[in-house]
Amino acid sequence: MAIRKIAVIGNPVLRQQARKLTREELLSPEIQRLIDDLIETMHDANGAGLAAIQIHEPVHLCAIEVKDNPRYPYLPKVPLTLLVNAELTPLTEETFVNYEGCLSVPDLRGAVERVAEIRVIAWDRFGEPIDQIVRGLTAGTFQHEVDHLDGTLFVDRVKDPRSLCTWREYERHQQRAFVERARAVVARWGS
Ligand code: NI
Repeated sequence: MAIRKIAVIGNPVLRQQARKLTREELLSPEIQRLIDDLIETMHDANGAGLAAIQIHEPVHLCAIEVKDNPRYPYLPKVPLTLLVNAELTPLTEETFVNYEGCLSVPDLRGAVERVAEIRVIAWDRFGEPIDQIVRGLTAGTFQHEVDHLDGTLFVDRVKDPRSLCTWREYERHQQRAFVERARAVVARWGS
């Protein structure tokens, strides 16, 4: 296992479309090692998620896990989830505003609109089917990660660029109001 370098905004790899994997490729030692590295790199960087494209491997893999996350302390817990070839379908027209950040966009956060309930169809790391419904802030995390695999960064989805701020200014001027809104999302959607 190894901690990989994370690509940052401006690196063309982040704008690529990730390639879907066949089951044979997925089960190969190379891809299994990449999955271990993806998870280790996510843990090392305190990410709530990480897509393979962010460690310079444009294949359709992403990891999500939320424990006690110092970057996003208001996020509900999510067990370690590894998604292969994930497809998301919106299940509602209801959206919420998420104040997002990204390991590939250093020291910036911004307000993004996310669908509040989605269906996730994917494989796990062994090619077993995943079919689950994800709601609320957790649905926002899933959308952020799968966006990466389409070459999309959260800054592309920021509606009002005036919401962009450094992490320090977020803490000083945005955090209190946003955490209130995040609690309301969790109350409404259960996560
Ligand atoms: Ni990201």
